[in-house]
Amino acid sequence: MSMPDILQNDRFLRALRREPTDTTPIWVMRQAGRYLPEYRATRARAGSFMSLAQHPEFACEVTLQPLARFDLDAAILFSDILTIPDAMGLGLSFAHGEGPQFARPVRTAADIAKLAVPDMDGELRYVMDAVRLIRRELHGRVPLIGFSGSPWTLACYMVEGQGSKDFATLKALCWNEPKLAHQLLDTLAEAVAAYLIAQAAAGAQALMVFDTWGGLLGPAPFREFSLRTMARVVEALQASEHSHALPVILFSKGAGAHLAALADTGCAALGVDWTMDLADARRAVDGRVALQGNLDPAVLRASPAVIRREARAVLDSYGNHPGHVFNLGHGITPEVDPELVKVLVDEVHAHGRILRGG
Ligand code: CP3
Repeated sequence: MSMPDILQNDRFLRALRREPTDTTPIWVMRQAGRYLPEYRATRARAGSFMSLAQHPEFACEVTLQPLARFDLDAAILFSDILTIPDAMGLGLSFAHGEGPQFARPVRTAADIAKLAVPDMDGELRYVMDAVRLIRRELHGRVPLIGFSGSPWTLACYMVEGQGSKDFATLKALCWNEPKLAHQLLDTLAEAVAAYLIAQAAAGAQALMVFDTWGGLLGPAPFREFSLRTMARVVEALQASEHSHALPVILFSKGAGAHLAALADTGCAALGVDWTMDLADARRAVDGRVALQGNLDPAVLRASPAVIRREARAVLDSYGNHPGHVFNLGHGITPEVDPELVKVLVDEVHAHGRILRGG
């Protein structure tokens, strides 16, 4: 970027630094997605989800769509966590109406030995081009979040070859061949760190790691296979000139029991799902990190009055402490009425302002 734009709305970044804000910032996981008719229209023009993600003009267009409708405090790069395994040669596709599929899943020692960290200026250049274009088109309106899957969550899909309710194929590898599992996770930790550092160099202003399936693990395996590799990623980010000053958000879904250990990685913030009270989450981390969350996404199927009440309950649970970024506890779902997202965003800002005396 030649002339970095002055950031006009820094609520999100201030909250991640646990500095006071006039009101509580909000963004929504999967805010660019199928619940928006304009997203579905752009996807139809692009032909497929992967074509959307791989053409920076399309990725930029859909990233900005939710910002045109709602008063959101952050943009998130439109892409997917599975770009890394795709770039490693596993052959990603999305069958219509179904989840992700890999043509060449990773199963054997030879498969794992063959995996190499992709070239961020080669196979994954389209992601960095999208980050650069989005930063330019945002004109500093709100900060841009870059993201990756966690090594554990990427390994879940790579070994299973598709989605699963328990990802037992990877779990079996961890029990039977822990050395191989570690080799796979170590390669992925290196790839995830390089990917996030490249996004930071391209202009991402905060970085989020989605550990969607960390919560499938028991306590000891969580520490060994999920937490340990995320800690390595955070360490690598802090050691890089491009990303050392950027806040990192770790989101391990279903891992409320591990918040204190996750905070010990040195991340700036933790995502929290809706199964936990934010007041308890805050006590668990002793105010050492910011928290992001945690409205049950299903609340967006309720009436406006209920959405407002539940949003206030989440805000009140966190209270008037610095360091809260409002979000859903997981991604928004396709059947949600976009008008109800506007109800949510406006209520969070209105009630957050009262709560914070802004
Ligand atoms: O938040 C955003 O707006 C940024 C975009 C984003 C997408 N995927 C776009 C997407 C982000 C941050 C992701 C992350 C992602 N992808 C995760 C982790 C977050 C989470 O939900 O826990 C995971 C597990 C994936 C893998 C993945 N990608 C799945 C399982 C699917 C199919 C899910 C479904 O609902 O059909 C995808 C596809 C995908 N990624 C879509 C979008 C908008 C839907 C594709 C479509 O348009 O049909």
